[in-house]
Amino acid sequence: MAPPGSVVVRPARLVRGRLRVPGDKSIAHRYGLLASLTRGTSVLRGFAPGADCRSTLRCLAALGVPVERAGDSVTLIGRGLHAFGSPAGALDAGNSGTTTRLLAGLLAFQPLSVTLTGDASLSRRPMRGVIDPLARMGARIDSNDGRLPMTIQGTELRAIDHQTVVPSAQVKSAVLLAGLGARGITRVTEAHQTRNHTELALRRFCVAVDVDGSSVSLSGGQTLIPIDATVPGDFSSAAFWCVAAAGLPASELVIEGVGLNPTRTGLLDVLRRAGAVVDATIEDASDEPSGVLRIRHGDPMRFVVEPDEVPGLIDELPALAALATFGGGMRVTGAGELRVKESDRISALVRGLRSLGAEVEELPDGFEVFGARRLAGGVADAAGDHRLAMAFAVAALGADAPSTILDAGAVDVSYPGFFATLESVTG
Ligand code: S3P
Repeated sequence: MAPPGSVVVRPARLVRGRLRVPGDKSIAHRYGLLASLTRGTSVLRGFAPGADCRSTLRCLAALGVPVERAGDSVTLIGRGLHAFGSPAGALDAGNSGTTTRLLAGLLAFQPLSVTLTGDASLSRRPMRGVIDPLARMGARIDSNDGRLPMTIQGTELRAIDHQTVVPSAQVKSAVLLAGLGARGITRVTEAHQTRNHTELALRRFCVAVDVDGSSVSLSGGQTLIPIDATVPGDFSSAAFWCVAAAGLPASELVIEGVGLNPTRTGLLDVLRRAGAVVDATIEDASDEPSGVLRIRHGDPMRFVVEPDEVPGLIDELPALAALATFGGGMRVTGAGELRVKESDRISALVRGLRSLGAEVEELPDGFEVFGARRLAGGVADAAGDHRLAMAFAVAALGADAPSTILDAGAVDVSYPGFFATLESVTG
C-alpha cells in the first residue's frame, strides 16, 4: 500500500491527446493584486486554481477587499490605491513566495502595520531581496533575520532607482508595485531580463510604464482602472506535458490556450536542442500572447542549459531534469537560485531522481543528469515542492517499474488535477 499522500505512477508507452492547463499563476497573482488598487469591479476569468493564488486572494480579503469566486472566475472590488483596511491578524501567504514579495510592495505604502507569515517552506526563504529596497524607499520592516514573519509598517514612500543583484521577477515587481505609492519615478534595472508580467499587467490597468532597454520605470500616484480579462494557461504547468511528449517514443500532445509570453518560453528552445519536435502557434497576440503548443517525440539528445538562459526557464528546470532521464542527459549551471525555491530544488531534485534510479551529480549552482541509464523506478520524495512532485511523476513514466511519489499532494500549489490529467494522456 502506498503511504498516505503519495501517488503511484506506472510506466507509460506514450502520451497522446489534446489538453488545456490551469490559468497562469504568475499572471493571476498580478491581476488580483492590481485589481485591489482600482476603484471598481474587475472580473478575472481563467484565474489560477492552485493554493498559491488562493493565498493571494485570502490575503486581499483579509485586507478588506471584496473577493468572490465562481468557477474559474474571480471578481474583485477595489476602493483605490490606499484603501486596504487593518486585517484582524497576521496574513498567511501559505507556500507562496509571489504573494509575500509582491504584497510586501503594496503594503509598504498603506497606512497600516501588517505581519506576513507562511508555511514552513516559505518561512525558510530569504526576503532580503525585497526588504532592502523597500526600506530604502522608506518602509519600516521587521523580519526574522531576513525571513518570515515580517512586519511591514507602511508609510509615504520615496522613489528609488534599483539595480537587481540576482535576477528576480518577484523583487522587480515588489519595487515597481511600491513605486505606485511613492513620490517620484521608481526605476528597476535588471542585468538579466526576467518575466515581464508585472509591466504588462500594470499597462493593462492603464498605468504608464516606461521600458528602456533593461530598465523599467513608473511614476507614483497613478490611477488604476478595473479590467475584465482572461488569464492564459500556465506555461510552467504545460512544461510537464511538453517533456513527457518529448521523452516518450511515438508521443504527441497538443496544449491549447497556453501563455506564450517570450520571457517565459525559454524551455521551447531547449526542447528543440533535446531532439523534440516543437510547434508553437500564437492565436491571441495581445499583451500576454497565448496559443497552441504541439510537441512530438524526437530522438533524445544531451543538452546544456547556459547560465544566461536560466531566468527564462527557472521554473522549468525540474521538468528538464525529468526529460534528461529519458536518455539524453543534461547539464545546467548558473541556477543557484533553485536552492531557495519551494525546496532546495537542487538537492531535493538530485535526491529524488537518484531514488528513481538516475545517475545525477549535484553542482553548487546546478546539476548534471547522465542520461544513459534507464530508470528502474523507486520512491521519490517531492519534499513539499509542487514542481518536484510533477517532475518525478513525469520521469517515472519512463521507468521500468512503478514508482511512488511521496507528498504528491504538493501539486495543488499550482496544478490541482495534475494526476487526473496524467492518467488521461498516458497509454
Ligand atoms: C515568479 C518569479 C520567479 C519564479 C516564481 C514566480 C513570479 O521567481 O521562480 O515561481 O511570479 O514573479 P524569481 O524571479 O523571484 O526568482
